[in-house]
Amino acid sequence: MSKRLRSSKLLSRASALLVVVKLHSVAYSYVSDGRRTISEIYPEFADFDFSEVLHDEDVYYKKERESDEHCCARAQGFLEWLNRRPEKCIAVVTHSSFLRHLFCQFGENLGLLNNNNNNNMPSSTLLTPPCAYLPSPNSSSFYIATYANDESTNKKSGHIFKLNKNYKEELSVELDAGALSLSLHVQESEESESESSSVILVASSNGSLLYLSLSLSLLFSLPICTTALTDVRSSPSSPSSTIITSSLLGHITLIKNRTPTHTFPACTYPTPSPTPAECWSLSFHPSGILSGGEDCKLTLWSLGDFSKITHNSNFDAGVTLIKYVNSVIHVGSYDDVYRQITYDSEKLIVLRSIKMPGGIWRIEINSGQEIAAACMYGGCVVLGEKEGELEIKRKEETESICYYVGWREEGGVRKLGWGSFYDRKLCWDE
Ligand SMILES: *[C@@H]1O[C@H](CO)[C@@H](O)[C@H](O)[C@H]1NC(C)=O
Ligand SMILES: *[C@@H]1O[C@H](CO)[C@@H](O)[C@H](O)[C@H]1NC(C)=O
Repeated sequence: MSKRLRSSKLLSRASALLVVVKLHSVAYSYVSDGRRTISEIYPEFADFDFSEVLHDEDVYYKKERESDEHCCARAQGFLEWLNRRPEKCIAVVTHSSFLRHLFCQFGENLGLLNNNNNNNMPSSTLLTPPCAYLPSPNSSSFYIATYANDESTNKKSGHIFKLNKNYKEELSVELDAGALSLSLHVQESEESESESSSVILVASSNGSLLYLSLSLSLLFSLPICTTALTDVRSSPSSPSSTIITSSLLGHITLIKNRTPTHTFPACTYPTPSPTPAECWSLSFHPSGILSGGEDCKLTLWSLGDFSKITHNSNFDAGVTLIKYVNSVIHVGSYDDVYRQITYDSEKLIVLRSIKMPGGIWRIEINSGQEIAAACMYGGCVVLGEKEGELEIKRKEETESICYYVGWREEGGVRKLGWGSFYDRKLCWDE
């Protein structure tokens, strides 16, 4: 760093103008670099005034990476300090990450840190890891939910972003909990029965079901469970408008008019005696409710008395996704097989299946019936059909776990979007 500084043209020109250069600690305390002691640096930079640097040793250099909140707060403190300086022209040297944390706090973009269109594949980075996708009712925009876990405090947090078709942030809201799943819900208006409005339901890590308006204001928070909610669905047959949600406790809860009406254990390990297993996904079906999770089963429950109608236990690992669309039950599992299942003659029968590059967490189907799947460690995949069999048409690798995929359509062209979790990336087709 010091060699590059000394040889830089910028410094040789600037030093003529700058009377005082304060080497403020902010330039160094991001985890990527530490500094040498001031007593060692001083002889090399004798023209500089180090009087504002209080410590000879680098006390700010720590093993752990600084939290985003802390860095944002520090960036504001730095701006305040800068504002109090009497100089007219000030050069500041720091890291790109510090600048992103500084500038992301101003203007409209509260959570989208940067957009990167340098290479062929456009992408952007969020403040928190993306895990769920929901198109807006008229498909003019879409929502992304995020989930972050601070490992030192075990505190969860998240955001919901509303992005336009070009992946520009329109709105965002920060939550005190991680968001695990999103669903659109049409609720009847309290004032007039003829009017209905859409709300976004969020299955959150603190066990509450959150109701958000389409413009992302938090309307209502309904405590359901002492553990995280894992998935949420709204009944397609309004006006009965029931909501179902699943939890890490293995329970399914039904909700009507913002009130839980029934909870039952849907996911258990059978031996030695039934113990709770995590329920990861669920869905409405014309014959009842489908559930699946750690128990490695797909189970159909009666909506009348919540008794078990039937199950299919032909899975080699947990059931991660259930989605009922176009009269087909789409099922994902950690056994890396995507299955299309039907309920016929009181049995859940596998119609077609295909080996995928990873566990299938979510799928999205576009208007051309193409199926995109988020395959966790296997990246994202688009399926097509050849002579009645499923085949992999396209595969996109991701740096980290892929938990969501989404389609958007522009002038008849269907474009894919997908996320990479720990590097907090959104990727999409141009
Ligand atoms: C889509 O919905 C948004 C509100 O979410 C509205 O502002 C916009 O005008 C709608 N677009 C169309 C094409 O209907
Ligand atoms: C869960 O988080 C939401 C969103 O920040 C909050 O509104 C709600 O009160 C929290 N619920 C509990 C039980 O802590």
